[in-house]
Amino acid sequence: MKFPDLPGERIDLVEINASCIDDLHEYSSMPVFFEFMELIESRSREETETYYQKLVRRSQAPTGHYWMIRHKGDDKVIGTFGVLDIDTRKGSCEIGYGVSPQYWGKGYFKEVLRMVLEYLFDEAGFHRVWAKTQDDNAASINSLKSLGFKHEGTLRDFYLSEKNGVRNDAVVLAILRPEFSAGKAYK
Ligand SMILES: CC(C)(COP(=O)(O)OP(=O)(O)OC[C@H]1O[C@@H](n2cnc3c(N)ncnc32)[C@H](O)[C@@H]1OP(=O)(O)O)[C@@H](O)C(=O)NCCC(=O)NCCS
Repeated sequence: MKFPDLPGERIDLVEINASCIDDLHEYSSMPVFFEFMELIESRSREETETYYQKLVRRSQAPTGHYWMIRHKGDDKVIGTFGVLDIDTRKGSCEIGYGVSPQYWGKGYFKEVLRMVLEYLFDEAGFHRVWAKTQDDNAASINSLKSLGFKHEGTLRDFYLSEKNGVRNDAVVLAILRPEFSAGKAYK
């Protein structure tokens, strides 16, 4: 499925391309970025490049699309945002995202999420958008809830950390188009 680039107030969402690799690596080498993710502690340059290729493959597939989150003014790539597992018949997709720790807590993710939801629901005719995240990832969960996502359930022991072998639950949150439309007050 083809998605447009989306212009925002402080950032633009631009289809992922190789210009992001240096900035992607800058924050992918920070262990704090991966605190609530099961797989790794940080990425080497080679691992960042492999990860970048994975996002490109997902973006080129008919069921996905990845934008880089590009900061206006200096063109710094401060994160990525993807839509995955798109089902065009049902109008549903999963989302996956990350923002550089240097930009956390400044409302950037909320700006991005609002832009994507407005596009998916108001222009592309989607009905359901969902995410899964580790159950102790407060930043991720609060960000989703702040735009109206509702907790739908828990996937017990869904994650298994490569770092320490600990299993963690995943929570599933979702928002439906009528809820987003009714919740424009979240703005
Ligand atoms: C989740 C993430 C994208 C949030 O990005 P961000 O730009 O810092 O988020 P925002 O500043 O837009 O904040 C959005 C909301 O979440 C809340 N929030 C942000 N960080 C928080 C934290 N550490 N604890 C609790 N709430 C938090 C904010 O208060 C805000 O809600 P409000 O508007 O009601 O006050 C970022 O923390 C991240 O990239 N984490 C690492 C990657 C990750 O975990 N991705 C999800 C994997 S499934």
